[in-house]
Amino acid sequence: MITTIAKVFTGQMEGKEISLRGWVYRHRSGGNMVFAVVRDSTGIIQVAVKKDKVSEKDWKDANDAYVESSLTIRGVVKKDERAPGGYEIGATGFELISRGEPFPVAKDLSEEYLLDIRHLWMRSQKMTNIMKARHHIVNYLREFFNNDGFYEIAPPIITRSGCEGGSTLFEMDYFGEKAYLTQSSQMYAEVFVFSHEKVYVLAPSFRAEKSRTIRHLAEYWHLEPEMAFYDQKMNMDLQEKMVQYAVEKMVKEHPELLKACGRDPLELEKVLAPFERMDYAKAVDRVNELGGKMAHGEDFGADEEAILTKEAIRPMFVHNFPKDIKAFYMREDPKKPGTVLNSDLLAPAGHGEIIGGSERIWQYDELVTRMKEQNLDIKDYQWYVDLRKYGSVPHSGFGLGVERFVKWMLNLDHIRDAIPFPRTITRCYP
Ligand code: 4AD
Ligand code: MG
Repeated sequence: MITTIAKVFTGQMEGKEISLRGWVYRHRSGGNMVFAVVRDSTGIIQVAVKKDKVSEKDWKDANDAYVESSLTIRGVVKKDERAPGGYEIGATGFELISRGEPFPVAKDLSEEYLLDIRHLWMRSQKMTNIMKARHHIVNYLREFFNNDGFYEIAPPIITRSGCEGGSTLFEMDYFGEKAYLTQSSQMYAEVFVFSHEKVYVLAPSFRAEKSRTIRHLAEYWHLEPEMAFYDQKMNMDLQEKMVQYAVEKMVKEHPELLKACGRDPLELEKVLAPFERMDYAKAVDRVNELGGKMAHGEDFGADEEAILTKEAIRPMFVHNFPKDIKAFYMREDPKKPGTVLNSDLLAPAGHGEIIGGSERIWQYDELVTRMKEQNLDIKDYQWYVDLRKYGSVPHSGFGLGVERFVKWMLNLDHIRDAIPFPRTITRCYP
């Protein structure tokens, strides 16, 4: 019977003869013994091969195996306190499926080399665990919205106009005309608040980021909910609930995986709503009090966000930014003119901005006026402006950078490890 390593570790298989399919993780031979550590998608386990317990062919296979050779083994499950996981397999059969060539990944390789062989490095325990965690995190995020009556919408990736300013647009030739890879699906999500009311998009966004940082990708996955009849406060409340949902689920259902990724679940357990909500002006003062240097009217950089969140254990909102430094679609706060009804959610310990959201300008004249102020050509956005002509309603939404969120949840050093094949200014291979 073919089983999995995770099943073996449940203890149900003790004393039984089982078969496993997998890959060699480590390999050591000497005298009449071969010790192979074998992995499958569920775990890793030690296999002891004794020369007199297997056929001649299997003994040869066991000796010939390389790290990463694929194989089928047969053996008896034994309890062994010293073995990792508490069980070991005494092989009765050892058959290579593909021996392959010597694997080019060993210890102490440079980051650049590991990025060159990313397609192989994905098999490492580190990346396997991170990608499993990412799967669960994304799954919980989707689940949160699906449970709350949201519809998932499919936006286009090729677009005619930018959503977040010209400087980071990737331009392409679209049958002889200019088009762009989307920076955000927000404008397309907005189309659906007039029919589905609560929607979300989970799709890639593209930013031609010219800087090399530990939190910028040129291609990232973007979760963008958009809600009819939501104001700024409801928008922030929803973000808070969403973050707490994903965090609680991970802590409850995958504490071991979090640990394997280097994140202490006890630390995450403290991430309980409500999150602090701080006005932009106060946040600037706070940065300066804490030793930073920042003028009112400037945007926060990574350093300022780090100063602001250094002592925090939960994420915090900064809201009501000056309208001049924010996107054209953000609604001005009638109670605080000159500021918009937006918020950024900043993750603690220097991780910084993980969400940007706002109430949208929903009235036609107001939108056209703002677009003129920002020197945007209405022609490029005609369809978007049109939405305000026919039964428009107040609405809000936000964008969560999935890799930023994963980076914070797993406390990763660099955003590139939150995605299998990071696209950065210096790399789009493999
Ligand atoms: O703050 P941003 O630019 O906002 C928007 O795109 C809005 N249209 C979203 C919306 O309201 N629907 O981007 C939103 C989030 C950021 O908070 C950050 O988490 C992530 O997207 N992000 C990036 N992640 C990785 N690499 C980059 N270059 C990113 N740029 C933004
Ligand atoms: Mg932002």
